[in-house]
Amino acid sequence: MENDERKPTTTDAGIPVASDEFSLTVGPDGPILLQDHYLMEQMANFNREMIPDRQPHAKGSGAFGDFEVTQDVSAYTKAAVFQPGMKTDVLARFSTVAGESGSPDTWRDVRGFALKFYTTEGNYDMVGNNTPVFFIRDPMKFQHFIHSQKRRADNGLRDNDMQWDFWTLSPESAHQVTILMSDRGVPKSYRHMNGYTSHTYMWVNAKGERFWVKYHFKTDQGIECLMPAEADRIAGEDADYHRRDLFEAISRGDYPSWTLRVQIMPFNEAETYRFNPFDLTKVWPHGDYPLHEVGRLTLNRNPSDFHSEIEQAAFEPNNLVPGIGPSPDKMLLARLVSYSDAHRARLGVNYKQIPVNRPKSPVHSYSKGGAMRVENVTDPVYAPNSKGGPKADPERYPETAVWSASGEFIRTAYTKRKDDDDFGQAGTLVRNVMDDKERDRLVSNVVGGLKNGVSEPVLKRAFEYWRSIDKEIGDRIVKGVTGG
Ligand code: NDP
Ligand code: HEM
Repeated sequence: MENDERKPTTTDAGIPVASDEFSLTVGPDGPILLQDHYLMEQMANFNREMIPDRQPHAKGSGAFGDFEVTQDVSAYTKAAVFQPGMKTDVLARFSTVAGESGSPDTWRDVRGFALKFYTTEGNYDMVGNNTPVFFIRDPMKFQHFIHSQKRRADNGLRDNDMQWDFWTLSPESAHQVTILMSDRGVPKSYRHMNGYTSHTYMWVNAKGERFWVKYHFKTDQGIECLMPAEADRIAGEDADYHRRDLFEAISRGDYPSWTLRVQIMPFNEAETYRFNPFDLTKVWPHGDYPLHEVGRLTLNRNPSDFHSEIEQAAFEPNNLVPGIGPSPDKMLLARLVSYSDAHRARLGVNYKQIPVNRPKSPVHSYSKGGAMRVENVTDPVYAPNSKGGPKADPERYPETAVWSASGEFIRTAYTKRKDDDDFGQAGTLVRNVMDDKERDRLVSNVVGGLKNGVSEPVLKRAFEYWRSIDKEIGDRIVKGVTGG
């Protein structure tokens, strides 16, 4: 572009500036004048460019696209986003959990799989992972769990001893740890992994009938994983390997897609199922609850400003639309209040007015004021009112996603059922799903971790933990670590 066709630089107030290169001085060699507010604006803005990282899931990548319904699931949910023929704009953000925002994409970790559907009845957020289960089943342990996976207080280092200490004292982690230590602990790219709600949610149809559901976004690219040596090499060569892969694939028109399938459990079966179907450490076996196709998620547009559109994206599991509700999963219930608090702390109270978080359906709320409000509020500012302000419509939008409960206030575990144990499904995965080569790699990954800084009594507990998952795998791990 010719120089004279370029737009003149301005200050943030739109005022043309005299130089991109020189501060205002007393003569060429003299001191800088205090009134050079443009220089000050440059320095001050720079000093404020960074915002806090997300506490977990700090390193991530995102893109836009759409979700298209391909099958009729209206018998199970009245959610507008899942009605036949519907196509809805979506934002997706994929992430690692424990690393900071500059950490390598190819370190072994669970991956976040967060979606924001801009539906006709408000934003619907599905904030899941690339694994169908989680490490714990009570939210009281979440903060401790994340601390154990991040950095020590004294030396600021990550620490295998701390990680395995927490895991082995929390046997409910066995299923997720087995997945994490398997090939799936390092996906080849964000395009080559599945996404799961992990939690059970409720669907409600137009007649008010309720169902329990789990979502599986199956990658249409196929599952592919990186072997440890390759992942380590890439971590050194290109820390942003997965971010680059996603961006470049979309730039060249190779749009990644996922097919959404759901497992559906009739409402009353939850009471009598052989294990607690709301326990986040368990899957529902496909043999009991097969997958039903719903539609396809396609990502086809890259962000144009990573900070505004991805860093400032705020996903929250409480964004549930009519026809979709929570379940009695205690982890999910805590997440319904945790995320909005995190966003208020990280982005400010009016974070939903940042364009990427703003619903594409009309907002008629009574929220008012607050730092960085950019949308005008109109009177009346209170309800009930007789001045024409918005009015809740319980006939059209009744509270349908509900279940009944009773009991004394108590701090305790879920009531145990026949098949509620910590190790069974992890054992099934190792014995019935993995092949010999995958089992060899699982053993090698665990041995590598345990040999790297894990001390007694954690080590002894780790051996018992793996023997409880599978005796043979446990014995092989002991042999690999002790040589005996
Ligand atoms: P199935 O044989 O019907 O399903 C096995 C599932 O395991 C498939 O969905 C497959 O995913 C997935 N899988 C394969 N390798 C791994 C791995 N290394 N880490 C995580 N998942 C993997 O069996 P069941 O439904 O009876 O479940 C048996 C076990 O499979 C469970 O105990 C659980 O560990 C695991 N599993 C089950 C899921 C479920 O929802 N039922 C979901 C994911 C895992 P894919 O189809 O994408 O290749
Ligand atoms: C991010 C809390 C469990 C998936 C976060 C954040 C918090 C948090 C505070 C940072 C949010 C932000 O600053 O934007 C919790 C709590 C949990 C929990 C309290 C349990 C009690 C889970 C589970 C999953 C999950 C079980 C998956 C099934 C995610 C994802 C992100 C995230 C994907 C990143 C979202 C994004 O891309 O912005 N979590 N979490 N979390 N969490 Fe959780």
